[in-house]
Amino acid sequence: MMHLRDPREGLELLADALLKGSGGSHVFFSVGKGGVGKTTFSILASLALSPRGRVLLASMDPARHLIEYLGLRGVGKPEEVGGSFRAVQYDVETLAKRIAEDYARLLRQVMPGLTVVSLDGIVRAVKYSPGFEEEVFLTILRELTERLGEDYDYLIVDTPPTGVTHRMLNLPRLYLVWLAHLYDLRYKIVSLRYAIARAMNREFEPHDPVLEKLSALRSQYQALADLLRDHARASLVLIATPEPLPVFELRQSLGVARDLGMRVSAIVVNRVLPPEMASKLGVLETQTKALRDVWSLDCGGCEKMVILHSSEPPRDLEGARRLGGLLMRLEEVLSEATH
Ligand SMILES: Nc1ncnc2c1ncn2[C@@H]1O[C@H](COP(=O)(O)OP(=O)(O)OP(=O)(O)O)[C@@H](O)[C@H]1O
Ligand SMILES: [Mg+2]
Repeated sequence: MMHLRDPREGLELLADALLKGSGGSHVFFSVGKGGVGKTTFSILASLALSPRGRVLLASMDPARHLIEYLGLRGVGKPEEVGGSFRAVQYDVETLAKRIAEDYARLLRQVMPGLTVVSLDGIVRAVKYSPGFEEEVFLTILRELTERLGEDYDYLIVDTPPTGVTHRMLNLPRLYLVWLAHLYDLRYKIVSLRYAIARAMNREFEPHDPVLEKLSALRSQYQALADLLRDHARASLVLIATPEPLPVFELRQSLGVARDLGMRVSAIVVNRVLPPEMASKLGVLETQTKALRDVWSLDCGGCEKMVILHSSEPPRDLEGARRLGGLLMRLEEVLSEATH
């Protein structure tokens, strides 16, 4: 039988694991396949970190489970959960609409000829554009990270489905390439206008709103791209259940993290069954293989942890807190399994 911890001790173990290698404020992304326990883990991590600083848990989970688990009153505004732990659920639909409207207004400003197309028409077109969902999440992330270190010390992001998360984390880099080209192009246009105005002895407005907007966007995305690649200030926590597909996705996320230059601070295998129960259910072999696979992964020295399966599924704050007692280091569980 595995030795179970006092939940508080488990939470401290988790906080130590997460904060190893982090300096000051930090943003953690909970990443994993649907249903593996991202929201549950995010709550657990918030409980673990809140004695060490101000925590904001922000969920981009489209199913809005955070509202349910924490009994939040609404969406879009951080609410106090307890002490220095605050949480906010984002409603992507509402945000998507707001952002699409901003774009539509900007488009009309830059291209007044577009008045033939209705604002609603533009909103609809932008909303269904490829990559728009990622853009919505990125906007939330940009706004949240701008307040990191000021309004809170630890930001925990409960992420949307893995593919969307991977693309979202890549967007700042992509935008910076685009913005550099757009800036050059606009600069040439403005210089030409200036030359023409001078040649014709006309007045020239030296401030170009488009150049200013591009320049502002560039510094915002540069700050975000720098933050994401700063191993002391941002990292991913990869979560999987001990089954082939979630572990496969975890491997993919490791590859993406490497490509993006991001650090993985921890890998968490959730809902691991005690050997005797796994054996009874006929999944001992699959589970042990998954645990060994995770053990052999090179994650750049990250922490590898296990949360045992709880017979009472955690559905609220107290449920998540109880999971603290089911937290183990992966090596503890593996040595148990091989004895
Ligand atoms: N260690 C555990 N033991 C037992 N049940 C668990 C454990 N962790 C999570 N669960 C249960 O598994 C279900 C999925 O968990 P959760 O909602 O946290 O997953 P998720 O990855 O956020 O899912 P989604 O992809 O739908 O957002 C929930 O019913 C939760 O109560
Ligand atoms: Mg979730």
